[in-house]
Amino acid sequence: MPSVTSASFAIISITIWFSTFQLSRRQAGAQLGTTPNIKHIVIGRCFSYTTLGNLGMRYDCEDIWRQFEEAVVHQSSCNVTEEHYYHLFNAMPQIWPCDRFLFWSKTRALMHTFAAVFQHLWTLEDTLVGYMFNDLIWCGQEEDPDFDFNSCPEWSTCGTHPVFSLWKQASKNFAEMACGNITVLLNGSIVNAFSRQSMFGSVELDGLNPERVNYVHIKVMSNLQGPHIESCRQGSVIDLIQILQSRGFLWTYGGT
Ligand SMILES: *[C@@H]1O[C@H](CO)[C@@H](O)[C@H](O)[C@H]1NC(C)=O
Ligand SMILES: *[C@@H]1O[C@H](CO)[C@@H](O)[C@H](O)[C@H]1NC(C)=O
Ligand SMILES: *[C@@H]1O[C@H](CO)[C@@H](O)[C@H](O)[C@H]1NC(C)=O
Repeated sequence: MPSVTSASFAIISITIWFSTFQLSRRQAGAQLGTTPNIKHIVIGRCFSYTTLGNLGMRYDCEDIWRQFEEAVVHQSSCNVTEEHYYHLFNAMPQIWPCDRFLFWSKTRALMHTFAAVFQHLWTLEDTLVGYMFNDLIWCGQEEDPDFDFNSCPEWSTCGTHPVFSLWKQASKNFAEMACGNITVLLNGSIVNAFSRQSMFGSVELDGLNPERVNYVHIKVMSNLQGPHIESCRQGSVIDLIQILQSRGFLWTYGGT
């Protein structure tokens, strides 16, 4: 279990819920092939996370890489499901302290600006899997037991894209683990701050367990210069509140 001191390690809480912003960004990049040197990047990140992080738990970074590779190579590039990553996730179990989970959607810029404010909260990118695979692209190829470094399909053209499936499973795990008071950070300057199509709205929200979560603190932050489109009285945030209520969650609302 990561101790509180692992907060000191250099990962500053930046993301959680996978916003559609990120999804589309990754989607655009996904026309490229697998990120060059992906093996070195992933293993390197794994070592820096586990070595510098004081995790009090042993991880075998080489084995984690092997499980990842096995899930992806030899598969048709559009045919990697969450189940393919089963052994990968088993190789890196993680438990998080309650009251520190932060989910966000379409507020990446804000997370950077206010990193200090949210530093005590943990996002998906602070987990080992999130840290290792952040911003990377990968896909395999049927004919050749290797990653395809030339091109990977776009997310939208794939039933089960290898990158999407990994993030979906990671998001699901993270949400299912969430406990105590959790924070959801939404962007009040856009229409559909809360969207059922985002990773938060489609995966994470359903993964939250009302018996583990005490309060959902909804924070809607607008850009300083506006516009202020969404709040707890107007727009999609009302939908979120209704879903939370119908599932028995307690919630609070705070805006800017
Ligand atoms: C995808 O996987 C399924 C089940 O493993 C298989 O039946 C199907 O033929 C595969 N599709 C492609 C395009 O490889
Ligand atoms: C809200 O979304 C817009 C459009 O994607 C973005 O430019 C802006 O930085 C976001 N605002 C916050 C507070 O994250
Ligand atoms: C959780 O949120 C509730 C409602 O805002 C608050 O009264 C309580 O003190 C919070 N608990 C923790 C541990 O932060």
